[in-house]
Amino acid sequence: MANLATLFTVLLSLLCYSQTGFGLVQWPGGTSTRFYDFKVQTMRVTKLCNTKEIVTINGMFPGPVVYAQEDDRVIVKVTNETPYNTTIHWHGIRQRLSCWSDGPSYITQCPIQAGQTFTYEFTIVKQKGTLLWHAHVSWLRGTVYGAIVVYPKTGVPYPFKYPYEEHIILLGEYWLKDLVQLERQVLASGGGPPPANAFTINGHPGPNYNCSKNDVYKIDVVPGKTYLLRVINAGLNMENFFAIAHHKLTIVEVDAEYTKPFTTDRVMLGPGQTINVLVTTDQPIGKYSMAMGAYMSAKGVKFQNISAIAYFQYLGAVPNSIALPAQLPSFNDNLAVKTVMDGLRSLNPVNVSKEIDTNLFYTIGLNVQKCRSKTPKNNCQATNNGVLAASMNNISFIRPNISLLEAYYKKINGYYTEDFPDVPLKFYDFVNGAPNNIPNDTQALNGTRTKVLEYGTRVQVILQDTGTVSTENHPIHLHGFSFYVVGYGTGNYDPQTANFNLVDPPYMNTIGVPVGGWAAIRFVADNPGVWFMHCHLEIHLSWGLSMVFIVKNGHGELETLPHPPADLPLC
Ligand code: C2O
Repeated sequence: MANLATLFTVLLSLLCYSQTGFGLVQWPGGTSTRFYDFKVQTMRVTKLCNTKEIVTINGMFPGPVVYAQEDDRVIVKVTNETPYNTTIHWHGIRQRLSCWSDGPSYITQCPIQAGQTFTYEFTIVKQKGTLLWHAHVSWLRGTVYGAIVVYPKTGVPYPFKYPYEEHIILLGEYWLKDLVQLERQVLASGGGPPPANAFTINGHPGPNYNCSKNDVYKIDVVPGKTYLLRVINAGLNMENFFAIAHHKLTIVEVDAEYTKPFTTDRVMLGPGQTINVLVTTDQPIGKYSMAMGAYMSAKGVKFQNISAIAYFQYLGAVPNSIALPAQLPSFNDNLAVKTVMDGLRSLNPVNVSKEIDTNLFYTIGLNVQKCRSKTPKNNCQATNNGVLAASMNNISFIRPNISLLEAYYKKINGYYTEDFPDVPLKFYDFVNGAPNNIPNDTQALNGTRTKVLEYGTRVQVILQDTGTVSTENHPIHLHGFSFYVVGYGTGNYDPQTANFNLVDPPYMNTIGVPVGGWAAIRFVADNPGVWFMHCHLEIHLSWGLSMVFIVKNGHGELETLPHPPADLPLC
């Protein structure tokens, strides 16, 4: 009997290793363990008429799909065969009692150095749907990313008609420069980053870009069927619209949580966000474009304005016909974003805490810091010869050079403080305040400050966008938890007029805080560990738009963080 079970597990893991395509997978039932072997490797690719080395997992771009079922144990052995420091983060996996496997570098672990191995282990507790994994060191996630697909338990149906087929759509950004160098150069310049050289859909830029006529992703579809598309934004520095020509998208799930079906012509995803949509092939036989374009809500930022195109091609369509163009909103269509957000509701009434133990108010935005360089022309390229930074509550996060989780767990002093403020140190007109204008010095302080929460604390955070440099929609991501988005609006948050939905708010891990506005999120701090909260625009993260929650242990084994794995990388 035991041998049979072992055999079954071995067969299953073999299936895992070989299953890397984007098609439909049928899993055998039961709570089981999925093994994956991730080798971090460089690979030469040619795109946009340029050949370069990119960092990949197992030589795949995008990387392999992690398939699992709700309640499964996932074990991923990551071996670093590149010269770059690396870690992998399982974005949106709530890491119940497994903070050590969360992955953000210098927050929960030191990077896996060249030649080293680390095995991530976690259980997917009460979660199903689409998520993503990505590198969480410097800008490596620009090419090191892939999908996570978690199926419901055997016998548990989707709350919508079973789709004829399902496909993964990974939106990305492609850069001709080496990403590790690019980050260094941008930070050294004091100014903003250059735009990506192309947007990509499943790694392909599509016909709008140079030399990319045949570098196009395509889905072949059959008329009269319903398809499930798992759309993931794995880009670095841009938020994006996605649409399919002449086809409606019905949102049924966001961040791996079911939603009330909501039909729309397009969706917007910030990096880190995932949306499952149903698409019915009810149009005349033909070749249709799927398009990914820019959503840029900030002023004065250069961005890629050419759309990535993929094909949604009906059986029987003339293969070389011109694809019907998809209509994307204009790059600054904030209303299009709001319309989709207004449509996001949890499928069923939810159990969101009505009472709050800890009320937090965090501003999010950019800063212009004083130039401290002797060569301002080279290093202080922001407005007024300043240096760009980003902050929460006007504190720009300084990454420590050891893992904060280790420092906390082993009580090593001197790497962080516990004084991240509950409210900004100064109040002013956040939305309309200009950079460092009289009487407001809006320069940020630097620090590695954390907010400590007792186990079980019911937390509300108001995230308030600032206009210090420019107002902008920021995709704020919290590790270790999903949160209810109970309210949002434009302007400065005003408790007198704010409207809250405590009935069926969406349950998300990344919230695009409206440009020049605010969002209110609620979660219960019932997962002990050290949890990063940050803007998922990578450049903002590099500039310090982040903070850290420390959630203390509760009582007993089920509320206590286990000790670190033996192979935890050293710094
Ligand atoms: Cu997907 Cu800390 O991020």
